Amino acid sequence: MAEYVVEFGKDGRPVEPDGRLDAPAFHRNHQAIRAVLQRFLAGKSGDAMEAGSGTGQHVVDFARHIPDITWWPSDLNDQHLKSIVAWRAQAQLSNIRLPLRIDLSDPAWCPEMQDGGPGELLAVFCANVVHIAPWRVAEGLFAGAGRYLRADGQLFLYGPFKRDGKHTAISNAVFDTSLREGNPEWGVRDIEALERLATAAGLVLVEIVEMPSNNLTLVFGRPKAT
Ligand SMILES: C[S@@+](CC[C@H](N)C(=O)[O-])C[C@H]1O[C@@H](n2cnc3c(N)ncnc32)[C@H](O)[C@@H]1O
Repeated sequence: MAEYVVEFGKDGRPVEPDGRLDAPAFHRNHQAIRAVLQRFLAGKSGDAMEAGSGTGQHVVDFARHIPDITWWPSDLNDQHLKSIVAWRAQAQLSNIRLPLRIDLSDPAWCPEMQDGGPGELLAVFCANVVHIAPWRVAEGLFAGAGRYLRADGQLFLYGPFKRDGKHTAISNAVFDTSLREGNPEWGVRDIEALERLATAAGLVLVEIVEMPSNNLTLVFGRPKAT
């Protein structure tokens, strides 16, 4: 079942007094997502940024299980930023930084990227964002990844995607229709269209990882020198 949450904390679920929000999808998908990152990031160290962190639960999970990497959460929404701060405080892990306020539709992301922020990135991870946002958010995500990823850096994009313009499951097609009815600028994105953004940003699609519930993780990196 596809996941459709624009803003956490508005669905009647309890919000912890410190602001921690809970995403039901996290409990279903976090182990499979983390396993992909563990495979690609094994033996590496450096800084990784999560774009559109939402509640902050994924970034805490990554920091706990992938301790050689410093994790930088980010989001645009004030409630989500508060939740990330609270999950980070509760986790007491030394390898998670305070969240950055990043509007992905700005290709520069935020001034801190070049001033006190992570600088060159080993990884950018982004889950369930580009279909619940206008296309310019995907454009800014790729432009920023192209700008900030280091030579061996990779961009991980998790969610439902179309392949060759076709949905990979009927449930994704239904989900896509409901998204577009809610906002004509939203919708399940086509991998080929994302590859064009990658090319413009100096990245290539390295691997498509099949995930549970008709989701995929798309892995982008720098083209290999020939
Ligand atoms: C469906 S939630 C996914 C949250 C989290 N990645 C997860 O999988 O649990 C989408 C997230 O994208 C964020 N978002 C939407 N538009 C954004 C933008 N222009 N820049 C940065 N984040 C944005 C929302 O605030 C929200 O936290």
